[in-house]
Amino acid sequence: VKSLHVELADRSYPIRIGTGLLAETRHYAEVEGRRLKLVTDDNVAPLYLEHVLKALNLKEEDVLILPAGEDQKSWGNAERVLDWMLASRLNRDGVLVALGGGVIGDMTGFAAAVYQRGIDFIQIPTTLLAQVDSSVGGKTGINHPRGKNMIGAFHQPRLVLADITTLRTLPQRELLAGIAEIIKYGMLADSDFFKWLEQRLDDLLILDTDALTKAIYRSCELKARIVAQDERESLAGGAGPRALLNLGHTFGHAIETYTGYTQWLHGEAVATGLCMAADLSARLGWMTAKDAERCVKLVARAGLPTKPPAGMKPDEFLELMGHDKKVAAGKLRLVLMRGIGLAVVSGDFDRAALQATLEHFCS
Ligand code: NAD
Ligand code: GLY
Repeated sequence: VKSLHVELADRSYPIRIGTGLLAETRHYAEVEGRRLKLVTDDNVAPLYLEHVLKALNLKEEDVLILPAGEDQKSWGNAERVLDWMLASRLNRDGVLVALGGGVIGDMTGFAAAVYQRGIDFIQIPTTLLAQVDSSVGGKTGINHPRGKNMIGAFHQPRLVLADITTLRTLPQRELLAGIAEIIKYGMLADSDFFKWLEQRLDDLLILDTDALTKAIYRSCELKARIVAQDERESLAGGAGPRALLNLGHTFGHAIETYTGYTQWLHGEAVATGLCMAADLSARLGWMTAKDAERCVKLVARAGLPTKPPAGMKPDEFLELMGHDKKVAAGKLRLVLMRGIGLAVVSGDFDRAALQATLEHFCS
């Protein structure tokens, strides 16, 4: 088992990464003796619920199984979780357990954040994306018909247990979506990790245990460091360090919105966004064309998309990018790179270069 800590004073917590963890009682020491209630989805339940129930000594009435899917990250389901907690007379010393991908993790965390003004919760992420990103850092929330993740709260978990054995049942597209986020960490904060990914990508793709453990550990370590600096994504000076975690996301969100959130997975859209951010950084002379090419090549080798959907036009990109949360005082800010591993947030870039990137990718 590899362990690391998210350092946030009295809200600090461990992340444990390894194989077979979720079935072993000793890995849940942080919530030993507490009353637990578990939320999962109907894809994950048949695969892993039994192991977790045994390890935590829970009964069927302690479990709520929700339908799987991004469209289930809703007010309606958050309310179901809250109703169920109230009906079971869970007190403030109770603990919610999120077993599943980012949808279950975000929504369960949100229910924990607002239930009786906040109770503890733990994360057992079962997708690669959730293990390297969504389970760490305390962003919780649900979608609103007017926008994704528009309702939420910062609420840190007490424990993250990333059992990489669960990735063996993950559909290939979901695995690649997680790989996109791993590549993102190398590009934004660690050129040596990026180089390692260039060397070991094929091992990750065949789910080699050592490679996966190292990639998840390093991704969590980099995210934990940034979250410790800027837990609530401050807006100081335009954008605090946490905004760097959104490398590729402004382009990616435009693609997700354009395609109605149904055709592209978030990680796939981010993958293309990473290529576009690299291209723009090179056009601005902030990184070398060779390094930008390395970024695109790694994304392509992973089998992730490097081009936006056919038919999407530069103007449509610009319009959708204007709705980004990083837009401040009407000015578009992007996460760009001053080299591999050196991301920066900037609103001071040549708009002609952005136009050239959009035209290149939309051609
Ligand atoms: P998801 O939770 O929808 O899971 C993807 C699919 O895989 C689902 O159908 C799920 O049932 C299934 N699944 C989960 N684990 C499985 C397993 N081990 N084997 C087989 N199937 C399994 O999607 P996701 O990609 O994990 O998360 C996406 C969500 O995360 C989005 O809502 C996004 O907004 C959110 N997110 C949050 C943060 C954050 O910081 N909180 C960061 C990134 C993404
Ligand atoms: N996924 C971006 C963040 O946690 O800030």
